[in-house]
Amino acid sequence: MSEKFRPQFHFAPRAGWLNDPNGMIRIDGAYHLFFQHDPDSTLHGPMHWGHARSTDLVTWEELPVALHPTELGTCFSGSAIETANGELKLFYTAHQRPDDRDFQTQCLVHADRALTAFTPEPANPVIDNPGLECFRDPKVIWHAATARWIMAVTQGQSIGFYSSTDLIDWTFESAFGETDGRHSDGPWECPDLVAMRAPDGSEHWILLVGIGSGAYGPGSGNQYFVGQFDGHRFVNANAPETELWLDYGRDFYAAQTFFDRTGAAPVNIAWASNWTYARTTPTQAFRGVMSLPREMHLVETQQGLRLAQQIPAGVKQAFVAHTGATGTYRQDIAIDLAVGQQAAIALFGERSPHFVAHRTSGTTATIRTIRADVAGMPDFAHNYIVDLAYPTDGPLALELYVDRGLAELGTSDGQVWITNLFFPEHPAGVVTVTTLKALENV
Ligand code: FRU
Repeated sequence: MSEKFRPQFHFAPRAGWLNDPNGMIRIDGAYHLFFQHDPDSTLHGPMHWGHARSTDLVTWEELPVALHPTELGTCFSGSAIETANGELKLFYTAHQRPDDRDFQTQCLVHADRALTAFTPEPANPVIDNPGLECFRDPKVIWHAATARWIMAVTQGQSIGFYSSTDLIDWTFESAFGETDGRHSDGPWECPDLVAMRAPDGSEHWILLVGIGSGAYGPGSGNQYFVGQFDGHRFVNANAPETELWLDYGRDFYAAQTFFDRTGAAPVNIAWASNWTYARTTPTQAFRGVMSLPREMHLVETQQGLRLAQQIPAGVKQAFVAHTGATGTYRQDIAIDLAVGQQAAIALFGERSPHFVAHRTSGTTATIRTIRADVAGMPDFAHNYIVDLAYPTDGPLALELYVDRGLAELGTSDGQVWITNLFFPEHPAGVVTVTTLKALENV
């Protein structure tokens, strides 16, 4: 387990392929993380659900594979719930590819309380294919106000909502998003629907949506919408063209939150990769890692309610300040920039910066994210900027987490995150921050 790019505090499988987080649920004091997995290959093959468990979100124990392909298909992404009488259920998409076209249906699996035994519902699929090539990634939640289960599910480039009282018979309610947010060639994927409280106590609904290509950074990315959901339809609180991003980096996709009855703030985890090059990352025994967990809160801004995401305190404490020895560290960076001034952050003992902060006016700044080519990885290099506010009450504060090449940079009190994979020669190399009047060659 000592591979060069194997992370210490992020989940990665012992062996084989990993993509989306699935079936995330907090139950009996443990966090369960299922994941898209091919245990027999480091490429995206016949999908299974791998399974890991943690009590602190820092160390993960990998458990036996939970879901295996059946005659209905392989096991694409989905979710987990706990019913009022303590039963656990998983929902996933059964995927087949007859005649070179995807065929997808939604299936239910009954699990025991320890999540060790998994029994398919005899009535599967519980939702048959309605004639859509992309019909997948069921996220099921309890909607208290209408006392029904709601399923959010990919329907091409929109998200469909179904309702049910028994988890077996589902009624189509509505679809959202055809003209909202960012669209590209592929489908919207991996929806999540979460009720949250604004600072004034009012209830709002957050819809997370993955877009496989054409996101903010080239390739895959995760957008979100803020609105209302009455059990029937989702109404966007922002103008349809508003684009909101959970992360502005290249490697934060298919984010999901834990089903959690404790009333704690929702915590998300994403797949830290990008379909553009996910199949070509230069690891050996395994391929694919998860992001750090992030606690989500709603904050009031001049543009309206937005998400702020914080690394949970226990996870934060697990990362010690940079020692240069392990390649796994946290660095808090506070930089006072005059207008026009820039600061370069270079990782892994390298000279060229990976992030450059630039104060563009009294109240605005940008962060440039820069990545060089890696041999054998198409479209891995990038160089683009992310806009943010320059704080009015002090220096620009950045929190940086690095774990064997995976870098997560947060700022603006958690409103801006940039998650990027790197495959450096020296993952344990030092981080340097240089403040300059003007930088050349970036
Ligand atoms: C997103 C996704 C899902 C699908 C899964 C297949 O990354 O394409 O839409 O269920 O991966 O592994």
